Formats: sequence, C-alpha cells, structure tokens
Amino acid sequence: MVNETQLNEKVVLVTGSARRVGKAILLKFAEAGAHVIVHHGNSDSAAEQTAQEARAFGVQATVFKADLASPDAISDLFSHIEEHFGRLDVLVNSAATFFARSLLEIPLEEWQLVMDVNLTAPFLTTQHAARLMMKHQGGAIINITDNGGRRPWKKRPHHSVSKAGLIMLTKVSALALGPYNIRVNAIAPGPVLPPPDQTEEDWAFYKEKLPLKRIGNPDDVARAALFLATNTFITGEVLGVDGGSILTVGE
Ligand SMILES: NC(=O)c1ccc[n+]([C@@H]2O[C@H](COP(=O)([O-])OP(=O)(O)OC[C@H]3O[C@@H](n4cnc5c(N)ncnc54)[C@H](OP(=O)(O)O)[C@@H]3O)[C@@H](O)[C@H]2O)c1
Repeated sequence: MVNETQLNEKVVLVTGSARRVGKAILLKFAEAGAHVIVHHGNSDSAAEQTAQEARAFGVQATVFKADLASPDAISDLFSHIEEHFGRLDVLVNSAATFFARSLLEIPLEEWQLVMDVNLTAPFLTTQHAARLMMKHQGGAIINITDNGGRRPWKKRPHHSVSKAGLIMLTKVSALALGPYNIRVNAIAPGPVLPPPDQTEEDWAFYKEKLPLKRIGNPDDVARAALFLATNTFITGEVLGVDGGSILTVGE
C-alpha cells in the first residue's frame, strides 16, 4: 500500500499522460519518487518528452502507446507493465474523449467510441490493475471523471453519461476490491484547462460563474490525485476539484 513516505520504488500508470492534465498527474507522482508509465494514444514525441521530464526526478519512466478503444491494446499495455516493472501500485484513468453534439445528432459510432474510451477502458484497466495489485499489498485506483458526470451536460450528452458511469464504476470497484486493500476513488474536475481549440479568454465566463472566480489548473488535479493515492482510509469517494462549479447552475 502506498503512503506519503513510500512512493519510492512504487509504480504508477497514468492513462493519457503525454500531455495536459494526465501529464501533470504523472509528473506529480514522479516527483514523489514513483516509477511511471507514460501512456498515450497518438502523441509519440510529447510522450517521450514527458518521460524525459519524469526521469529528471531520478525515477524510471517508460512510454507505451495503446488505443484505449481496443481491449487487445489495453492487454498489451499491462503485459508491458508486468514485464518491465512486475508490479503496479497506482492506476490513474485520465484519458478521455469527447465531442460537442446535441443528443439527437449523436451517431451511434460516436456514442460507442465515447463509451469505449471513457468507460469500458477504465473497466478493463481496473481489472488488469487489480490482478497485478493483488499480487503485492494492494494499491490505489483513481478515475478522473468530470462534473458532467455529476449533473447532465446538454452540450456533451455522451461524455456526461460515460463520466456518470465512471463514478458508479468507482463505487462498485471500491466495494469489490476493498478486501484486497485496493482503494478506488474518483476526482471530478471543474474547468482546469481549455481544450486546444480554446483559450483561457474563451473560458472567461467561468470566472464569473464559479464561486472561486477562477478556472483551476492541472496541478490542482495532480495534487488531489497524490492525496487520494496516499491516504489509506478513503475509498469509493468522488472528490470535486472544481472551484465550487458543482454548486452553480448546470449547462
Ligand atoms: N481539461 C479540463 O478542464 C477538464 C475538466 C473536467 C474533467 N476533465 C477530465 O480530466 C481528464 C484529463 O483532461 P484533459 O483535458 O487533459 O484531457 P484531453 O486532453 O481531452 O485527453 C487526454 C488524453 O486522452 C487520450 N486519449 C483520448 N482518446 C484515446 C484513445 N482512443 N486511446 C488512447 N488515448 C486516448 C489522449 O491521448 P493522445 O493525445 O496521446 O491521443 C489525450 O491526450 C479527462 O478525463 C477529462 O475528461 C478535464
């Protein structure tokens, strides 16, 4: 079991960690002394760069590319972890995909892709990770959900449904895996980093809307992930890291 003083020699996988929020989470664990696996879907050079930044903390970092819509690719990712490290102590499911589309315009293939990446992949990684963690003293799984999973999000219905499912996956996994000393929690970020096609100015309206009057940053989420990985008596929880956005009127 991981605690605040024992991250050295622990092994951490963060899905979708070549860039953005996943990268911030991965580097937070590397800074705390954990060996890390940089998973990515299509970001070879960014993933290598992230691994280099992790190694600067004196830890091992490997890079693995896997399409999370493919169960076989997920299986290969865990074979890589087993071969390279022989153990896994923390899994962070951060990768996700979304499309802005109203309910009646969503094509079935797009619905299925969102469910595959945002919900089925975390289900499969949880199964693989739990089997590895059970061989040692347990571990921690952290699912990055979204406030869109806690209240309906009109502009991204499939994203909202997948993230609500991820919250329930967190709770059923916490129930099932608690006896193996595997804790499972979720983080529900509010607005922390605009998508690449938007700027912070595009998100200026959040400054008015959010109780804290600012958007967050990836490090806010990364620190919450480290906390949930190291506190040994929290399981089945959803921690909002959202500047109070859940308290305001939904979209
Ligand atoms: N950013 C925010 O303000 C915010 C707010 C609330 C919740 N969140 C949640 O926080 C997490 C991280 O947010 P983010 O903004 O950093 O996410 P992001 O940039 O939208 O996506 C994270 C990563 O997911 C990976 N990914 C997507 N589809 C994949 C696939 N089929 N196979 C493998 N990897 C795939 C991508 O990897 P590649 O680049 O390598 O393809 C991408 O870098 C997500 O779960 C998101 O829903 C974020």
